[in-house]
Amino acid sequence: MEKSKEVFAVSERLVIRKFGMQDVQSFYQYRSNPDIARFQSWENYTIEDAESFVGRQLESSPDQPGRWFQYAVALAASDQIIGDCAIHTIGAEPRIVELGFTLAPEHQGKGYMHEALCALLDYVFGTLNKHKLIAFSDVRNTKSIHVLERLGMRREGHLLENYMSKGHWIDEYQYAILQSEWLTMRR
Ligand SMILES: CC(C)(COP(=O)(O)OP(=O)(O)OC[C@H]1O[C@@H](n2cnc3c(N)ncnc32)[C@H](O)[C@@H]1OP(=O)(O)O)[C@@H](O)C(=O)NCCC(=O)NCCS
Repeated sequence: MEKSKEVFAVSERLVIRKFGMQDVQSFYQYRSNPDIARFQSWENYTIEDAESFVGRQLESSPDQPGRWFQYAVALAASDQIIGDCAIHTIGAEPRIVELGFTLAPEHQGKGYMHEALCALLDYVFGTLNKHKLIAFSDVRNTKSIHVLERLGMRREGHLLENYMSKGHWIDEYQYAILQSEWLTMRR
């Protein structure tokens, strides 16, 4: 597999890098899985959706106020994509960013997302110098809640019927961590 050039962060087992067109098939495989989509905004994801999503990523760069940027999570040994994480730079306050993440089912339960997010948060608070990172999770999404709490993120709110998903209003938890808290924890 051709190695992608733009790498944002690395960890023991993983590389956090820009998407490339070589990732389309693997990205499509997990995004189109109904278990993966259960607590997410999309459903019936097609290969055409995946191609146009990855195509847009090629033209995008991180940290644009008001926009999401999707980072590919790949195995360091093979450069094979196993998931992704995304950062939304809030338009009204670009020093605050929002986090999202997904891992292919066959790679879950091995600590990959925790490892990827530790590297990503080092990049967000170190390289990008952000003040605060927030995340929203469907209150039923226990795996996502575990990931956020394992990172040391604090539950700052329970937002009632905050999000319309697949025809239903969904309660969400809001989580957050400050730059100062992350840097203290990593020392
Ligand atoms: C949310 C999601 C990424 C969590 O995946 P995950 O595999 O549970 O998370 P991690 O990769 O961090 O792995 C953690 C698990 O691996 C286990 N593990 C095994 N080996 C490990 C290791 N070497 N290091 C750390 N943890 C390890 C941990 O005990 C933990 O299991 P537990 O939660 O049962 O205690 C995944 O469920 C997903 O993609 N869901 C669909 C998308 C989604 O809903 N995203 C959230 C939107 S906010």
